Amino acid sequence: MTYELNDPAADHGLALPGEVHVAPDADTLYDDLGLVFTSLALRADDERGAFHIALSGGTTPWPFYQRLLIDTRFREIPWERTHIWIVDERRVPDDDERNNFKSLRGALLEDIPTPASQVHPMMVMKDDPAAMYEEEMRTAFGATQGPPRMDFVLLGMGGDCHTASLFPNSDAIHVTDRWIVVNDGPNVTPPPRVTMTYPLLNAARSLAVLCIGAKKSEALRRVADQIRTGPDPVNVPITGIQPTDGELTWYLDAEATGA
Ligand code: 6PG
Repeated sequence: MTYELNDPAADHGLALPGEVHVAPDADTLYDDLGLVFTSLALRADDERGAFHIALSGGTTPWPFYQRLLIDTRFREIPWERTHIWIVDERRVPDDDERNNFKSLRGALLEDIPTPASQVHPMMVMKDDPAAMYEEEMRTAFGATQGPPRMDFVLLGMGGDCHTASLFPNSDAIHVTDRWIVVNDGPNVTPPPRVTMTYPLLNAARSLAVLCIGAKKSEALRRVADQIRTGPDPVNVPITGIQPTDGELTWYLDAEATGA
């Protein structure tokens, strides 16, 4: 992908890499993203007979997941042929409130007809959860040249510009030969994490970064400032999201842009 900047003069004023979609409020943003998600799902199902998605946790995306479930416009999503992966996970038991997959089950998975064999939580309490998850991907995707290609990845961004569990100055930032790693150390917000790496994330066909609320505006400005001089994944990790042959779109509500 060419690392194109949006026109900084556009009304959101944010020169972010990829496309920027701004909605007046969070509800409208969920609608817009839901429509894009549905059309990507139908296309993947049509072209490849499966829709592989990797979802994030944190606090932002839960209303979006619930919207996918209840809004009749999204009824066409082929959940029976969807594979659900998680972008990153905290190393806590699966019944711990901090476990992303626990929340995902409650928000979405319990009510969709996706077969259990296509639902892929990380076995984070095992000795080598990263190798296990990679193995599960090899089985699900079959032989691939390089990392498998997710059809859709939903990312969030923290105030320190981390995405997934790729924290500033942490070990996982530098990994180029693994799809999944454990990330821990002084720069990782506890508890330790298991995360998808840049090579896997950047192989995706479509990546969406969802940022909602005024609390995101400072970090978004920082990303835009950094991009002006060049990506710096070590200090501003989300700038390491550079799809190799896919699309990156930022989904922002007006407050996140600082408007
Ligand atoms: C997680 C994440 C993480 C998250 C950001 C934003 O599980 O915590 O995947 O990268 O998306 O920290 O978090 P908020 O949505 O809480 O702002």
